[in-house]
Amino acid sequence: MCGIVGYVGEHAAGTKPLEVALEGLRRLEYRGYDSAGVALVGAGLGQVATRKKAGKLVNLVAELEENPLPPATAAIGHTRWATHGAPNDVNAHPHVAGKVAVIHNGIVENFAQLKAELADDGARFRSETDTEVVAHLLERAYARTGDLTAALREVAQRLEGTFTILAVHADEPQKVVGARHDSPLVVGLGEGENFLGSDVAAFIAHTREALELGQDQVVTITPDSVTVTDFDGSVVEPRRFTVDWDAAAAEKGGFASFMDKEIHDQPHAVADTLLGRTDLSGALVLDEIRIPEAVLRSVDKIVVVACGTAAYAGHVAKYAIEHWCRIPVEVELAHEFRYRDPVVNEKTLVVAVSQSGETMDTLMAVRHAREQGSKVLAICNTHGSTIPRESDAVLYTHAGPEVAVASTKAFLGQITAAYLLGLYLAQLRGNKFPDEVAELLGQLREVPAKIQQVLDGAEHVREVARSMREVSSVLFLGRHVGFPVALEGALKLKELAYIHAEGFAAGELKHGPIALIEEGQPVFVIVPSPRGRDSLHSKVVSNIQEIRARGARTLVIAEEGDSDVLPYADEVFFVPQVPTLLAPLLTTVPLQIFACELATAKGLDVDQPRNLAKSVTVE
Ligand code: F6R
Repeated sequence: MCGIVGYVGEHAAGTKPLEVALEGLRRLEYRGYDSAGVALVGAGLGQVATRKKAGKLVNLVAELEENPLPPATAAIGHTRWATHGAPNDVNAHPHVAGKVAVIHNGIVENFAQLKAELADDGARFRSETDTEVVAHLLERAYARTGDLTAALREVAQRLEGTFTILAVHADEPQKVVGARHDSPLVVGLGEGENFLGSDVAAFIAHTREALELGQDQVVTITPDSVTVTDFDGSVVEPRRFTVDWDAAAAEKGGFASFMDKEIHDQPHAVADTLLGRTDLSGALVLDEIRIPEAVLRSVDKIVVVACGTAAYAGHVAKYAIEHWCRIPVEVELAHEFRYRDPVVNEKTLVVAVSQSGETMDTLMAVRHAREQGSKVLAICNTHGSTIPRESDAVLYTHAGPEVAVASTKAFLGQITAAYLLGLYLAQLRGNKFPDEVAELLGQLREVPAKIQQVLDGAEHVREVARSMREVSSVLFLGRHVGFPVALEGALKLKELAYIHAEGFAAGELKHGPIALIEEGQPVFVIVPSPRGRDSLHSKVVSNIQEIRARGARTLVIAEEGDSDVLPYADEVFFVPQVPTLLAPLLTTVPLQIFACELATAKGLDVDQPRNLAKSVTVE
């Protein structure tokens, strides 16, 4: 939530700082788009120069055309997902006090108390935000210390809650400072210039060399130096990493939307996640799993913690891992996990699934699990993010940057990584012979080409989606691994098309939801392979008959060659044959395309749906 960018360069005052800030904001806009703003400092300016505007970045750009900013040496920029205060111009960041400008991601929980204290001291507030409090505190601390870094260290120690803060001061025009506590911040390393960002997307157009900041650290960037300390001022050595994708990967590449592009990226997302994870003998080697093998052998329960789409990937993981490894797997929404006093201990492996690696609910679950003595393994798509850093081990998905707010390719990447984890555990614990693991891996490697077939044959899904612009409710049914796919299909439709949608386990239908079926009610049904588990297929075919008999319009996703569904399907979308457990990698795709196309037909912004932000860094 909220995107943050900072830049300082050695060039004489020029337009680059503003350009870098706007470019960074464009790439970070998926993190929030309630307002956008920038602040510049430069030699001789005397004051910070700011512009900010409610709404998407285009509004700020229009404002800058009308009221240009002067040349500068450093800039900070912010794109907001509103927490305190309505999304209007005044509450937009940056917030200014005297010669200080501040931007913030997170929530300052003790802001009311600090605000009262500052008001008694004569501070006058313009906005309703918690952030403005930080600007005033910083102005006062600077007056005492005469040094922006020291001032920020002092202020950071007074704040409760979560925050990434960036600040500039008009009297220190070659410096940007940042502090982080439970919110993300990474450093981009340039030559004669340095960058700060909520994530690497902020500066990927300029550098792929980056530093990970740890918890409770303060960073100061100048054109030729980066200094990191803890809140007490002790210097720390941050971990350096190289981003393994480039700016082009975060562009639309000819597609109408990032969503469409990312749906089409999925064969690569799956293939790249599988890549390089076997040794010469064909055995799985997951180098990043740095949990001792003895510990993994002694695990007697796995708990997957995640939110939203990532949690549905966790549901798929449960089916696969339980089947392959015979270890009980629970899947828990991360925000529920911590507060119900879960029974986890050193024999529990907690698997945290997160595209962004910054979801606060999931991060808190990770911390709680580790406090209970559990080992935590993160499945994550974002290098340099907090969840992998705070976990014992990480299995990266290689889906590449996911820019559209609603998740697509990261979901398939997460499911692929979960299969790898399951097969690795099965290999390690002796549940499967090496040739069985190799066979399953071989089948997994065939999946990307099959996803491509689904994408190539998707015109029918699109036509049906366009014809359903006026529907007000769609239901999704699935069994076994088709159940999480149904949940994901419903979530995509809600998010993108603002249509009421619900996913059910098909067997649950007769226990209540069947009452919703009336004449013309569209229902997607994800049908398992007829070659799969005994009776699973026939049970779902019976479910289709039950709802059709009550007037439902049935939209069936089935395996190629499954003629049993034809008499009961108003529309059928075939996907290639794969083993039952791997089917979500294919059956999800038509549902993503359906939601994207229907939302587009309604004229909606599929990349930035209303009220959402990609990286949910508040609880
Ligand atoms: C839905 C979606 C969200 C995320 C959830 C977790 O399309 O994107 O439900 O899956 O907010 O986010 P991460 O994976 O970043 O932890």
